[in-house]
Amino acid sequence: MDILIIGSGGREHAFAIGFNESKSVSNIHVAPGNIGTSKIAQNHDIDISKPELILELATKLSIDLVVIGPEVPLVDGIADHLMKSEIPCFGPISRWANLEGSKKYAKKIMKKLNIPTANFVELSKISTSYDILNIFNPPWVIKRDVLAGGKGVTVTDSKKTAISSINYAIESDGRVLVEEFLEGEEASILVIMDESDYVCLPPSQDHKRLKDGDTGPNTGGMGAYAPAPVVTPSILRRVEEQIVQPIHAYLKNQEFPYRGCLYIGIMIDNDGAPRVVEFNVRFGDPETQVTVPLISSDLGELFFSAATGNLSESNVDFHNYSSATVVLASNNYPLKPITGDVISGNDVIIEEGEIKAFIHYAGTSVNNNGEYISSGGRVLSATGIAPTLKEAVEAAYQIVNNIQLKDSHYRSDIGFRALQR
Ligand code: AMP
Ligand code: GLY
Repeated sequence: MDILIIGSGGREHAFAIGFNESKSVSNIHVAPGNIGTSKIAQNHDIDISKPELILELATKLSIDLVVIGPEVPLVDGIADHLMKSEIPCFGPISRWANLEGSKKYAKKIMKKLNIPTANFVELSKISTSYDILNIFNPPWVIKRDVLAGGKGVTVTDSKKTAISSINYAIESDGRVLVEEFLEGEEASILVIMDESDYVCLPPSQDHKRLKDGDTGPNTGGMGAYAPAPVVTPSILRRVEEQIVQPIHAYLKNQEFPYRGCLYIGIMIDNDGAPRVVEFNVRFGDPETQVTVPLISSDLGELFFSAATGNLSESNVDFHNYSSATVVLASNNYPLKPITGDVISGNDVIIEEGEIKAFIHYAGTSVNNNGEYISSGGRVLSATGIAPTLKEAVEAAYQIVNNIQLKDSHYRSDIGFRALQR
């Protein structure tokens, strides 16, 4: 089959690599794609915020499966458009994309299904003081009820910052959620689902804070690894019983069921109890870069089966390896990244026995001289795959340590929670 991937990040490069290794896939197209995808697929420079342009491209290319990377086209209803045109789409219709698009909607569904999550209140009236800040203990968690590209959540110990974040959100969006702070360790559970079945992929852990030791501001994600040992088999069973099965049972019985990946961000407390921090309606970035390489079965066949409601007929197998990815970010990320600088030292790959490491490209372009240059906040990530996590992390660092990009930065402790266990 011919596949069209929508998006331009490291996640989409990881999909393209996975499809390139799939027997079921003949041609790979990516819109708009990046320098990494251009090496193994055909890029198409279209405006993916316009569903009609995606539909037009998919039709023109006689695409058999469209795979949506980022959340915005899903919330905007790309899957609904494709469904009307009978083009299989990996990614849910806009109604279910609201599980990510609106935190309030996600909370409503969790409450209805008795899924464990933090208590919250909704506020919609501007004030100079809010009673809830005296009821919930600090740190306070303030969540905007809109897609905010990873910048919609404030976690703060300062009452002043909490009040100004609440006011800002109410002024911008008309409402805001204030949530109880959950203690514990976070993990990402990516679940492929349709009406026939669900499959939990190996649990992973992102590193959302900019700096080592989980300090500094929140980012889109500075690195990840899988499988994450914090999610023990018994915790994964609890996640399935208390979270995955109830939401899957609900979504599969709808007229238009969920088809795609549901990303469940969980917090695991000291007793091993999981609670939902967030739902995303897509694969995570950079979680994809460490998850897709662990899938040993045909990725094209897996995604196609979920997009057409036949997941139960698909056999999914995994490699018995660990993986780690280290994100190289440009100067001033996550504020306003400074881009346009030349990248060098990015031509190394590792293939030593069972240890492999290579680059997933994201915000990288090529200039008129054919040199690689930075063009986004997260420029690329170096990914290692190996029999042990330690080897995977070391291989990823061997690649990223070799790269030169002016004033770029990366975390030096990816995987530390697992390696310290
Ligand atoms: P979200 O966009 O909902 O994933 O939130 C971004 C990050 O804020 C999460 O990855 C957590 O690290 C943190 N966060 C969100 N909600 C909570 C909560 N209720 N308790 C503790 N941390 C949270
Ligand atoms: N890595 C976090 C996300 O994709 O939302």
